[in-house]
Amino acid sequence: MKKSIIKGTGRYVPERVVTNDDLTKFMDTSDEWIQQRTGIKQRHWIDEGAIVGASDLGLKAANIALERAGWKAEDLDLIIFGTLSPDIFFPGSGCLLASKLGLSSTPTLDIRQQCTGFLYGLTTADAYLKSGHANKILVVGGEIHSTGLDKSTRGRDVTVIFGDGAAAVCVEGVETDKEVGILASDLHTDGNFAESLALILPASREPERGLFPEMFDDARYYPIMDGTRIFKLALKLLPQTAVTALKQAGLTFDDIDLVIPHQANLRINQSFQKIMELPEDKVFHNIQKFGNTTAASIPLALDDAIEQNIVDPTKDTVMLIGLGAGVTWGTVIYRFGE
Ligand code: UT7
Repeated sequence: MKKSIIKGTGRYVPERVVTNDDLTKFMDTSDEWIQQRTGIKQRHWIDEGAIVGASDLGLKAANIALERAGWKAEDLDLIIFGTLSPDIFFPGSGCLLASKLGLSSTPTLDIRQQCTGFLYGLTTADAYLKSGHANKILVVGGEIHSTGLDKSTRGRDVTVIFGDGAAAVCVEGVETDKEVGILASDLHTDGNFAESLALILPASREPERGLFPEMFDDARYYPIMDGTRIFKLALKLLPQTAVTALKQAGLTFDDIDLVIPHQANLRINQSFQKIMELPEDKVFHNIQKFGNTTAASIPLALDDAIEQNIVDPTKDTVMLIGLGAGVTWGTVIYRFGE
């Protein structure tokens, strides 16, 4: 039977590091508040004034993943691009990435599932690979938040969290009887909470979709978040999806070498670890360095954990899990090896 096997991972973040102290220059916040409430010490943002899109960061991450997989762009049967900050309103960033990879007919698919974009992307890839519709797929998560944040004190609860970045994985359908690859996937959406974390304007549902000067003062032109509500939903729904996915795979937490959660808030992930009664070192954190990079966050953390030798890419079993805007939440359990 075909299994979906990760052949290469890659990540890219812009060079510019923005520390918490840097943020205090334009809003009323502090390094102490940000570290205590979120765990974040710094994030990477593109240079001010740079014309760089999510697909440009995605391209750099994709090139690394492709090289590690030993693939050329022409080998790809499908590109899946997860982002909430597409380069332009349409067409999707997957189209732009494909062109930047030198491709002119490879199918592409954008996934608009925010923090769980990578989980949805990987699960979609799994379905394509197992059904034989594709054999080699690139799944990318890429975000540029920094150009769309409210950098005044009004937006401080959201703005301090987000970082720019991208990460990519190459996934192949491989015929094997071994219990490897994507072992379980559990995905959910509850659109009743859609506006608990959202960017509302510009919007096609408005009588006039365009951008108007009066909009620039409207908080809905920037991401808005009911942080407490999202926090509570995460602590309720992440344990549920973790247990469901484990059951689906016929595993327990003893079989999981590392939990790689979406990096939204260090306190959420530490609380999850306590609720599930896991040892501290079983849950991976890198939000301190990168902030929340939404669709890029989980693959970026996976690539970072492999680089730090915390994940053995020849045999380890990892739980990828997250919750974010939508709200959407879910889990993918993946075992390395072939
Ligand atoms: O990836 C997408 C999913 N997103 C999440 O999972 C995020 C979930 N939520 C969170 O991470 C947290 O709710 C936040 C980090 C966003 C906020 O932390 P909090 O502990 O929930 O703080 P709060 O919003 O309840 O605000 C507490 C206080 C308020 O002041 P008062 O009303 O108590 O005087 C805020 O105005 O902290 C104030 N505050 C800040 N102070 C300094 C909010 N943001 C900041 C800031 N710096 N950046």
